[in-house]
Amino acid sequence: MIKSYINVDIILIILLSVHTIYCQDDPLTKLESTIISHGGQVLRITDSQYHAAAILHNRVIQTWPNMLIRPATFDDVSLALSTLSSLNIPIRIMGGRHSYGGYCSHQGIVTDSVLLKGLKIDLQSETVTMEAGVLWNDIYKVLNGSEHIIVGGLCPAVGVVGFTVGGGYNAMYSRSYGYASDNVLNFKMALYNGTIVTASSTINPDLYWALRGGGGGNFGFVLEMTQKIHRINQTNLPNGQYLFLNLTWVNTDIRKALNNWFTFIKEVVDFDTRISFNTIVVITNSGNFLTIWCSFNGPEVEFNSIFDSWLSKDPKPNPYNVVHYAQIDIARELAVPFPVPKREHVLSAMAINITDAMLDVILEFKPNSTHQIDAWTDFVYLHNANKDKNTAFAFPNISFDIAPGVSWLDADFDPLALDMAQTMERKLIDAAASTHSIPGAYLNYIDPYLPNWEKMYYRNNWERLREINTKYDPTWYFRFPQGIPPYFSESNISNINNNNIIVMAILIIILIIQTFYLNQ
Ligand SMILES: Cc1cc2nc3c(=O)[nH]c(=O)nc-3n(C[C@H](O)[C@H](O)[C@H](O)COP(=O)(O)OP(=O)(O)OC[C@H]3O[C@@H](n4cnc5c(N)ncnc54)[C@H](O)[C@@H]3O)c2cc1C
Ligand SMILES: *[C@@H]1O[C@H](CO)[C@@H](O)[C@H](O)[C@H]1NC(C)=O
Ligand SMILES: *[C@@H]1O[C@H](CO)[C@@H](O)[C@H](O)[C@H]1NC(C)=O
Ligand SMILES: *[C@@H]1O[C@H](CO)[C@@H](O)[C@H](O)[C@H]1NC(C)=O
Ligand SMILES: *[C@@H]1O[C@H](CO)[C@@H](O)[C@H](O)[C@H]1NC(C)=O
Ligand SMILES: *[C@@H]1O[C@H](CO)[C@@H](O)[C@H](O)[C@H]1NC(C)=O
Ligand SMILES: *[C@@H]1O[C@H](CO)[C@@H](O)[C@H](O)[C@H]1NC(C)=O
Ligand SMILES: *[C@@H]1O[C@H](CO)[C@@H](O)[C@H](O)[C@H]1NC(C)=O
Ligand SMILES: *[C@@H]1O[C@H](CO)[C@@H](O)[C@H](O)[C@H]1NC(C)=O
Repeated sequence: MIKSYINVDIILIILLSVHTIYCQDDPLTKLESTIISHGGQVLRITDSQYHAAAILHNRVIQTWPNMLIRPATFDDVSLALSTLSSLNIPIRIMGGRHSYGGYCSHQGIVTDSVLLKGLKIDLQSETVTMEAGVLWNDIYKVLNGSEHIIVGGLCPAVGVVGFTVGGGYNAMYSRSYGYASDNVLNFKMALYNGTIVTASSTINPDLYWALRGGGGGNFGFVLEMTQKIHRINQTNLPNGQYLFLNLTWVNTDIRKALNNWFTFIKEVVDFDTRISFNTIVVITNSGNFLTIWCSFNGPEVEFNSIFDSWLSKDPKPNPYNVVHYAQIDIARELAVPFPVPKREHVLSAMAINITDAMLDVILEFKPNSTHQIDAWTDFVYLHNANKDKNTAFAFPNISFDIAPGVSWLDADFDPLALDMAQTMERKLIDAAASTHSIPGAYLNYIDPYLPNWEKMYYRNNWERLREINTKYDPTWYFRFPQGIPPYFSESNISNINNNNIIVMAILIIILIIQTFYLNQ
């Protein structure tokens, strides 16, 4: 009788000490206190800052994480990754929260880069080193007043890493200075196990190649990157400004206006990378609207002789504004509210050219006004914009990104709006098929509904990207829909959890002791 009491006592003591050890050493609690003690934050749904921190640009794909971990140092990002991956707790990486697929968030733990705000500009070497939490506008503010620009987002609230690793075009500057990914000199990245690696043309060149076009959320957590900045051309204007045109056509023959634009492109613009465009077409039941934003990175005196051949043609733009803008002014003018007041779905097709059959589809893309759905098509002109062909960005030869979009007011998820967008995309791809005018889709406009997305985003780079990810993320810790899976092997996926082994060992010891006492 006494023995069995001792037996129960001993088991209880052991269980209690296991419990105590685990409460003190619970790796998540430890991680949380370390991050907070180094100036970081951990937010849960009950925190007052949580809602503003977790809301996404596009609320239609909103998911609410259980916990946002916001490390303030690179070492704490490492610690978070090694701790969470060894516990097999899946995460997502959060940057500027502009992913159209919402892939920076999920219902579990999110590691948020927002507190990593370090930013160093060196005008001498013409480089910027920026940490993962920097948004484009942070850099535009610092560069304002200088003669330098950076290839960043037209939308100033986009995160620098998400933008750059997916290619990253600036409709107004990329024809002069390339994609953002063409301009990166090096990355610093934390792997799933916390190891921090550098990627440059000489160190881990495979990763350097993959991170320039291979897309956000793959390979690891990018901590920091260094990118080239550019002194703009001589324009006769102060403070890094140059000339912008804001051209509008309302209720005119849009097809004719677009064809005039295509002719100007073929005859002049294809030979002059100083000229760039961002063009939006909106067709409604009551009329149509075409707006072309144009930039000219050259001396103002040359402007009339270059543009007259185009702008003197009928139909003429009306109104027609000429403005002198620095990069920060464009960001202000084209800023999109965060989060968007409407729900939206945006698709994208990378096109070599736009044929008549494609134009037929684009010009019949109409909103459904009875259902409060807006529809538009954005054309970004990208001929000769890809300046470094040795990157994972898969479209060296395209001329346009055609981006049809729909937005709607009255529902979280609108199957009709989605159906409109999908139908438009299918028709456009069919119309382009016979001429091979559309080779794929733009990864930075990631589309959760895109069929055959592996080939559409990555084309011939898909297998090489998978191989590289096998080296850097062998267990596919950074997993998300439309992520790049590694090639798995038995040894690579047998990710045995150390803590489980300890718990098992303690349980076995308890069993042995118990058996020993019972046998007395
Ligand atoms: C209004 C608007 C305008 C846009 N304009 C342009 C444009 O002009 N040109 C263009 O090229 N694109 C444009 N985009 C697309 C934009 O570049 C992509 O959505 C980009 O992925 C957003 O990055 P983010 O950090 O803001 O978003 P997030 O949603 O936070 O991140 C996007 C992806 O990158 C991953 N990620 C974020 N940070 C890191 C990190 N530190 N390490 C590893 N992975 C990370 C996330 O996990 C996610 O999968 C626009 C998007 C919107 C909504
Ligand atoms: C940018 O700099 C110019 C002067 O170079 C100044 O007039 C303007 O206010 C600045 N803009 C912002 C947003 O700081
Ligand atoms: C700068 O202008 C010159 C001539 O005006 C042109 O040849 C050159 O391509 C321009 N550079 C850029 C980056 O646009
Ligand atoms: C562009 O032109 C339209 C039409 O005139 C006008 O509403 C808009 O404010 C202009 N934008 C800028 C930045 O000049
Ligand atoms: C517009 O939406 C309404 C309401 O859902 C629907 O009945 C109608 O068929 C739609 N029209 C078109 C042209 O899609
Ligand atoms: C790009 O165009 C060149 C010449 O037109 C061609 O040789 C090359 O194969 C093209 N590259 C791709 C990836 O389509
Ligand atoms: C556009 O594509 C079609 C089909 O390949 C081709 O016939 C036409 O010449 C192309 N136009 C341009 C400007 O490249
Ligand atoms: C397993 O992962 C290693 C890198 O850790 C990689 O080199 C190897 O190719 C992978 N094996 C397979 C079969 O994918
Ligand atoms: C982390 O993972 C990488 C890639 O699998 C591997 O090369 C490296 O040795 C690992 N580091 C540690 C400390 O285990």
